[in-house]
Amino acid sequence: MSTPVPIPRRKVTVRIDGTERAAAEGSTILDVCRDAGVEVPTICWAPTITPVNACRVCVVELEGSRTLVPACSRRVTEGMEIRTGGDRVRASRRMVLELLASSVDLSRAEADILRWLEEYGTDPERHGPDRARVSEPVRRHDELYVRDYDRCVLCYKCVDACGTEAQYTFAIAVAGRGFDARISTEYDVELPESACVYCGNCIGVCPTGALIFTREFDLRESGGFDPEAQAVTTTVCPYCGVGCNLELHTQDDEIFRVTSPDDHEVTSGHLCIKGRFGFEYAGGRRREGRTEADPATDRDESSSA
Ligand code: SF4
Ligand code: SF4
Ligand code: FES
Repeated sequence: MSTPVPIPRRKVTVRIDGTERAAAEGSTILDVCRDAGVEVPTICWAPTITPVNACRVCVVELEGSRTLVPACSRRVTEGMEIRTGGDRVRASRRMVLELLASSVDLSRAEADILRWLEEYGTDPERHGPDRARVSEPVRRHDELYVRDYDRCVLCYKCVDACGTEAQYTFAIAVAGRGFDARISTEYDVELPESACVYCGNCIGVCPTGALIFTREFDLRESGGFDPEAQAVTTTVCPYCGVGCNLELHTQDDEIFRVTSPDDHEVTSGHLCIKGRFGFEYAGGRRREGRTEADPATDRDESSSA
């Protein structure tokens, strides 16, 4: 199959922190910064999801604009002058990160978020012990995934992945207003009674650990989660002929999480229930205490299936 040749896009010239850059028309400020090797923090942005401007941690200064602008969604135009690291930008990002960390538990957030909390000098504790905190019970209904909304920053990624950006199931949305806003199923029914099809695409995009594989949740709760002992193996989903790439995250040869690469041309990082959660058979022999193939037993098992 031949690869389609992309339509060339007109170039515009912008300045990022004083350096001139050529950028394809339609690119965002974030695209140009990334191409230039300039880091801009993001939380609600994802490469496979249309920006919703929910977090505002990506703000930059734009010459001529009264307010800071979100880099993840603002498209570049000819002659833009952008500054990414001034005091005003840093203060704004620090405030966003600090207020999020003061109201929810970010201890299981993506490594970049944890690093930005440090680099921007956040101090959530200075808001005092009586500050408002999100307090939700851990929701665990099955062995597939856990919802731990004490860690939710309302980035909307899960809602969008469940909706028009990937799954078109619309099982979840944001309910409530202000501090009471939260992710909810329709009429707040329990997940098994909702429209959820357990594709896990919401888990795949959640940046904070609020949505998490049950196995990973248990591993972390037990204190045994050890990144040093972990590996990621890329393979192909065995369940059908579509050929989705799977990344199997393992610790001590046990799978605790399954993802797919964001840039995979079939999945764009999204999977179905089989690819995402259908790994229980792997490692079964070891869990049963059997280490070597036993043709006789295996034949018996397959004939009784
Ligand atoms: S598992 Fe899939 S269907 Fe269920 S809430 Fe998440 S994205 Fe929606
Ligand atoms: S559950 Fe995760 S993905 Fe969904 S809004 Fe909260 S932080 Fe974002
Ligand atoms: S990453 Fe740009 S608004 Fe959230």
